[in-house]
Amino acid sequence: MKPLKILSIVGTRPEAIKMAPLLRLLEETEGLASVLCLTAQHREMLDQVLSLFRLVPAYDLDIMQPEQTLTAITARALEGLEQVMRREQPQLVLVQGDTTTTFAGALAAFYQRLPVGHVEAGLRTGDKYAPFPEEINRRLNSVISELHFAPTALARDNLLQEGIGSRAIYVTGNTVIDALKTTVQPAFVFPQPPLRDLELKGRRLLLLETHRRENLGPPMEAICRAVLALLEAFPDTCLVFPVHKNPAVRRTVYPYFQGHPRAFLLEPLDTLSFHNLMARAFLILTDSGGIQEEAPHLGVPVIVLREVTERPEAVEAGTAVLAGTEEGRIFALASRLLRDRQAYAAMARAANPYGDGRAAERIRDAILYHFSLKEAPPAPFLPRRSSAAAPSRPAGNVLKNCNQP
Ligand code: UD1
Ligand code: UDP
Repeated sequence: MKPLKILSIVGTRPEAIKMAPLLRLLEETEGLASVLCLTAQHREMLDQVLSLFRLVPAYDLDIMQPEQTLTAITARALEGLEQVMRREQPQLVLVQGDTTTTFAGALAAFYQRLPVGHVEAGLRTGDKYAPFPEEINRRLNSVISELHFAPTALARDNLLQEGIGSRAIYVTGNTVIDALKTTVQPAFVFPQPPLRDLELKGRRLLLLETHRRENLGPPMEAICRAVLALLEAFPDTCLVFPVHKNPAVRRTVYPYFQGHPRAFLLEPLDTLSFHNLMARAFLILTDSGGIQEEAPHLGVPVIVLREVTERPEAVEAGTAVLAGTEEGRIFALASRLLRDRQAYAAMARAANPYGDGRAAERIRDAILYHFSLKEAPPAPFLPRRSSAAAPSRPAGNVLKNCNQP
């Protein structure tokens, strides 16, 4: 029998991280032929992940341009994907998440009348401009897709409310937790300075990552002012901020921190280093989607730098707080955690609302079941209750020599 051909489309850093565990499993599964196509909407940030997880693409459309527009990404991806899909004629196209690559991948497949499986389906804020353009990308993907891999029960409920049939939805957990389980190591040694000189005694580490399109401009400036004020108010803290490659982000953030003795603005970190840094952070401030999912697993409190989130599970579990982008509120929420041990302890709990490390396996099994290659569907992911201790977190969470570059 000919193997079932699955074409996976990946464009950006988070898609690659979240697809890596699934791609590995698809490759290993008898009866499946897995083909990876990159749009390369990201370049360096994507290549970092490919090399870490040893992902070898069959196609690389290499579409990234400096300061690209949404229209340009969509048009270039659609053009290239049409050729790949015509040539490969897969039985299933997989897309992940909510980027413009994801949407273009689903649309290109629809134009070829190919069925689409959507990994990380059903996340919603209910606000079409936040996050922009991701909220609309994922809604359009839901309309196009045949198979919906919802990471949580809440995501499944969002899809049901939009009229998607329950038999097409599988609750799988998020594959980002599968990836995280392979990267965090208590004895990890950072390969590069200044992280190489990290020691787990001394200062408290604030880890910042902000890049969302809707935060560019005044909201991102307010975030920077708030974090700068935290550094001033708490001399035992230091900041590590791996800055996204987007030049619009760089223009905004560098002037705020340049020359500050306790602020380290770095190039985007390879995911192995980033995950291990997260595990050692005292507090994470971010507008990233993936980091909001990873931090609860590591038991590190997160201040979410957004007005709304499509990932409310961590807020409900008490390990994340939605701060918005107003300077005073970010400062107030973070300084309370830096000052009040009890408030901090209440948030620094390991919770696993997003996954148990077996999401890729469930997605693979759901695909096999859908194509009648397996008799039963996978059992849905059920989160465990939160625990007081964070098991995978290295002992200590502070830095020494942090003010020395
Ligand atoms: C994209 C996704 C966003 C996701 C984010 C993850 C869209 C519209 N946005 O946003 O959902 O959260 O990726 O990081 O799909 N650049 C480089 N090298 C890189 C990557 C980016 O130089 O490796 C620069 C380029 O100038 C590029 C710009 O960053 O034009 C913006 O990249 P783009 O993919 O358009 O948007 P992101 O903000 O990265
Ligand atoms: N990440 C990384 N290096 C960094 C910052 C983040 O590898 O310097 C990882 C992070 O652990 C998470 C993913 O990138 O798995 C999140 O990607 P991003 O924030 O770019 O996109 P989003 O999740 O917001 O779509």
